[in-house]
Amino acid sequence: MSTHSHRRGSVYACARLKSTMAASFGVCRLHFRSLGRFHNFYLGLETQTHRRLTSTISAIKAQAVNNTVTKPKENKTFQAIQEERREQAERSVLISCPPKFNENKFLDYLSKHGTINKHFFYSGYGTYAVVEFSSEESIASLKESTNLPAVEHEAAVPFKSRLLSLKWPGGQLKNQPMPTFQEQSPPTIGDITQLLSEKDSIDEQLQCLTEALQLTEENISLRFLVCSLLGDIARAYFPECIIRPFGSTVNGFGKLGCDVDMILDLDGIYATSQTKGSGLSLEYQVKRGASERAVTQSILSVIGKCVDQFGPGCVGVQNILQARCPLVRFSHQPSGFQCDLTANNRVAMKSSELLFLYGHLDPRVRHLVFSIRYWARAHSITSSIPGAWITNFSLTVMVVFFLQQRSPPILPTLDRLTELAGPSDKCVIEGNDCTIVSDLSKITLQKNTDTSAKLLQEFFEFYGNFPFNKASINIRKGKEQTKPEITALHIQNPFETTLNVSKNVNATQLERFVKLCQESAWLFQKSEFLNRSSSQSSESVSPWGFSALLLPSVTSGAGVKSRKRRKLEPTSSRIKNLLDSLKIKGGETVAKKGIAGPSR
Ligand code: GTP
Ligand code: MG
Repeated sequence: MSTHSHRRGSVYACARLKSTMAASFGVCRLHFRSLGRFHNFYLGLETQTHRRLTSTISAIKAQAVNNTVTKPKENKTFQAIQEERREQAERSVLISCPPKFNENKFLDYLSKHGTINKHFFYSGYGTYAVVEFSSEESIASLKESTNLPAVEHEAAVPFKSRLLSLKWPGGQLKNQPMPTFQEQSPPTIGDITQLLSEKDSIDEQLQCLTEALQLTEENISLRFLVCSLLGDIARAYFPECIIRPFGSTVNGFGKLGCDVDMILDLDGIYATSQTKGSGLSLEYQVKRGASERAVTQSILSVIGKCVDQFGPGCVGVQNILQARCPLVRFSHQPSGFQCDLTANNRVAMKSSELLFLYGHLDPRVRHLVFSIRYWARAHSITSSIPGAWITNFSLTVMVVFFLQQRSPPILPTLDRLTELAGPSDKCVIEGNDCTIVSDLSKITLQKNTDTSAKLLQEFFEFYGNFPFNKASINIRKGKEQTKPEITALHIQNPFETTLNVSKNVNATQLERFVKLCQESAWLFQKSEFLNRSSSQSSESVSPWGFSALLLPSVTSGAGVKSRKRRKLEPTSSRIKNLLDSLKIKGGETVAKKGIAGPSR
């Protein structure tokens, strides 16, 4: 593969790419620090941190300009987008780079193996390069010339993966330009608060929040690459299998730092074994398990063991096989991602497609989902650990339901999406009809001109007054239904309609959510809240609008410790305190109090 023409093509492509990629890759924002930890981001706008903050904020602003995730991809279907990304990942490698190296020489060396389509660098636990070749043959060529490490005192597992290390001979780097690396962690709540406070309207704030938090193209590519690397391990047992990302990596609602949900997809194996004729035939002899679940558990336990023992960069592998949906959880250190690998989970992939579709119908959907999720995390309504909390998935379904209730509705019902489906969209999973239209252009939307800010306010009013005691949230019908069972919160599972996606939520957590909605709705009626003070300079901005909704004093009862105190204090005085605090300079106020910021 190391032909001269390839090399020339590659150098040309790289030179062309460098100028365009530098800006976007330079600000590629990945989450590396939250691995297995909970985050408390404290807003500290003191002078000594101001310079760093300014550069971070410029990076977020640049990212918002460069990020193309929100732009529709030429009306491609969900499946087509996923397939394209998967295929790109199969032609990519992940390379750990030394602290000093020369980018041009590095790319020149790699391009001996074929044309490089794209590349970018990021820094997490070290410096890494993602390099996408234009052909899969380049990977084979590259692997042929790659050595296994010489390990002293220990022994190496001789597994040749696409996670490589760049060895750079010493003494050649004097006065050599280095690639530019920017700090790549998700925006802190401090960065976000300052960024939003500078905006002129709540609508602009919500759009800015979405752009600052959403996954970048590079981050999504890295997610697909990690799945592809995992697939190499699983394919040692099941050559036709594919590991696909689902959940917020693909549904359009992913926030930088969110986990990578993966499905081990074995459908390719079943597809080739369905050829039945009346004549002579052969059948595979197979081991049998007691149930589908038992087979899934057995497959995942073996793959989990391989990931643990052979998977380079995979650490902290836990087999969580007794869960309702059995899974293997691990950290992929080079990317910094926490990964949840499941199997036999096709309905979840369909749910991801459904959310993707809703998110792409109208930009206000994503603005609302990002802001509600962020608001909920800031107030510990959601959590990164399992428990009786409302989940991000439930919150998203609640937003969809609310938008179906508008007059005229902003989003169509799930039943309508099924009606619009074509014959190739037909999909039945375990007896559940999961058919939805894949061609977005078939969906006609009604004209609703509500602003995102108005929708946010009315979301709080809607759920602040929702009859949770008797009504179920049902996006299939787009109407409240009578609750079929006694439970605090009932949200019908969109595809497995006998299930409740919020079965885990208890009355206390629901009450906290409702109270917070009421308080947030109340704040929206205050002029101090709605307007940015004209006297403010960029050095001194007070949180207002959406930023003010994140202030802890709104929900001083969010923490268990303060709940007793909160009961004694009437709502109006708590809100008055908040409004008073808004008059003080934002940085100082929040820095003193400290905000527990979202980590996911
Ligand atoms: P993050 O919090 O950003 O990770 O959002 P997420 O949407 O990825 O949520 P999570 O990782 O908890 O779950 C991954 C996916 O599994 C979701 O997007 C849904 O498709 C599905 N899922 C999660 N919870 C439920 C549930 O309670 N019921 C059903 N049917 N699907 C769920
Ligand atoms: Mg997830």
